[in-house]
Amino acid sequence: MSQGKFYLTTPIYYASGKPHIGHAYTTIVADALARFHRLVGYKVHFLTGVDEHGSKVVEKATEAGVSPQEYVDSLDPHFRSLWQTLDITHDDYIRTTEERHTTQVQVIFQRLYDQGDIYKRNYEGHYCVPCEAFWTERQLQEGNLCPDCGRPVTWVTEESYYFRASKYAERLLAHIRENPEFIQPATRANEMVNNFLLPGLEDLCVSRSGLKWGVPVPFDPEHVIYVWIDALSNYITALNYATTDNALYTTFWPADLHLVGKEITRFHCLIWPIILMALDVPLPRTVLGHGWLLFDEEKMSKSKGNVVDPNDIVAEYGSDPLRYYLLAKVQLGHDANFSNELFNLVFNVDLANDFGNLLSRTVAMIENFCGGTVGPLGELEPLDLELKTVLEGLPARVREAIEKLDPATALGEIWKVVGHCNKYIDSSAPWALNRQGKKERVATVLYLVGESLRYIAVLLQPFLPQTAPRLFQQLGLGDKPELMTWLSVQSFGQLPPGTIVRKGEALFPRKVVRAEDTKQEDKVVNQNQASDSSPMPEFKPQITIEDFAKLDLRIAKVIACEKVPKADRLLQMTLEVGNTTRTIISGIAEHYSSEELVGKLICIVANLEPAKIRGIASHGMLLAASDDAHTQVILLEPGKPLPTGLRVK
Ligand code: ME8
Ligand code: MG
Repeated sequence: MSQGKFYLTTPIYYASGKPHIGHAYTTIVADALARFHRLVGYKVHFLTGVDEHGSKVVEKATEAGVSPQEYVDSLDPHFRSLWQTLDITHDDYIRTTEERHTTQVQVIFQRLYDQGDIYKRNYEGHYCVPCEAFWTERQLQEGNLCPDCGRPVTWVTEESYYFRASKYAERLLAHIRENPEFIQPATRANEMVNNFLLPGLEDLCVSRSGLKWGVPVPFDPEHVIYVWIDALSNYITALNYATTDNALYTTFWPADLHLVGKEITRFHCLIWPIILMALDVPLPRTVLGHGWLLFDEEKMSKSKGNVVDPNDIVAEYGSDPLRYYLLAKVQLGHDANFSNELFNLVFNVDLANDFGNLLSRTVAMIENFCGGTVGPLGELEPLDLELKTVLEGLPARVREAIEKLDPATALGEIWKVVGHCNKYIDSSAPWALNRQGKKERVATVLYLVGESLRYIAVLLQPFLPQTAPRLFQQLGLGDKPELMTWLSVQSFGQLPPGTIVRKGEALFPRKVVRAEDTKQEDKVVNQNQASDSSPMPEFKPQITIEDFAKLDLRIAKVIACEKVPKADRLLQMTLEVGNTTRTIISGIAEHYSSEELVGKLICIVANLEPAKIRGIASHGMLLAASDDAHTQVILLEPGKPLPTGLRVK
């Protein structure tokens, strides 16, 4: 199923500080795209790395009292380990201090010099040290501030080498106009043309003297090659472009996608193509300049110090939830705010409630109603056909979105199907069908949901690489790699009837927001405050051990749950207690949804006199922690999986 090759890159990040969530963002998006292309059959090469030269590194190293090389050596492991933590599947990782890079950069520089595209002249200009960028007079803000970071620029005078960018401007303009997919989103293409190309490209300073930390200019060792020729060339030096062994280069160049943040679009869409034109190398197919992650509406950046450490988020939630948030909730190309509240909300709603519960309730129902085995699929009713049709179109919709470089839409499509399945279960009510003894119908409904979950698992592999295998595992497909392929979602019904499901841990156990983490006046916080401020209830009069022994407390499992019609607070639950089942009506509907209850192990009072509630007999009571005002009600759950029917004493 070969689809050709796909070469994609992230920026090489400055080794001037530890990576933060902004770097994680670009790399996660690139990883999802790389994995998706592999899934559908492309031969993928995915490159990331670190940019280790430049005056900023020297500054930081001096501050730290170490050599620049020691400094970058100390940062490199932080990048590598973060990529491991986030399950990044790059095929190569380049450091600009590696010899394979520096030798080729010298070859490239020499060649540009020999053919007259690089020349020496005296230069004076405005330079921003943190951003490693020269700015012209008219680009400065308020006379002397860097337009990117807003800090004062420094006036620098020196003899430097220049790259004749102006010579290729016309050709580049034509290329941009003839190749609408070259710069994305399209608004950035207009920006490049109107702000830079049409006013006239200035020649670019490509060397520094007086700076020792960098790749030496091969024919003039007083100068080092200034960051952009050094840094941008990584995209071809990593493929061994300027060596005799250039099989990677011939296989993978031109790049299919350079994914970069919008602040460096300019370098990738103007300078880089011009360097390539001068070298007579074909241009990359697409440069996508994505938006910024903002924290409290400000750009996160190492130099501003307002950064979120992705390791902290992963430690608390795991890496897939972070991947999900960044892929599904940030529109690629646009800025987006990141906040802990929003992240927690998305975790609880999309992952814990909608998706996690869909799996746990489905597996629980297959276990409880179908003896743990899937199917077979019987005759299909209109509701079933509707789900089947939606499902069959899903792989193509996801692929189309990814081909448009739009992971948020791809995940949105998958979550639409998650929602569809949840509604389908509610409408089909397998628990009611089961009570009525309609075994075949129950099997059909749960087969459809099971097969939907298999499609979802296959399609989620590029986005949530840790979750997808857990999903396959619980669906009983852990040892069936042939049912995890792209091919396996090209025709409905590959899930073999008779597959034995395996209930596992909840995929995403709900997380209660810590009060100090949130400004949001949400229910959870209010509940915590209520219980903190209300006095502890009075103790009741003493009882004897015999009194206590009269209570029959048991472990039970919720196997079905539905709202009692016209009663806002009441849920009717079907519980498994050993080899018996019973119904209990409980007033917890404001605190728990049916979805999150199904599959839960809880404690009940089993020998309470039955009571009729709304005409339904309730056989017992659930044990829950609660304040007297019932502002918060939390069911007691055993901390480990246990057989139901076990005594609690
Ligand atoms: O610019 N939101 O390195 P860098 C989104 N070495 N993405 C962000 C971000 C944020 N707040 N902060 C950083 C460099 N990024 C050069 C690149 S390439 C040949 C040389 C991501 O460490 C985004 O991809 O400043 C951005 O372009 C990149 O990190 C900048 O990383
Ligand atoms: Mg930067």
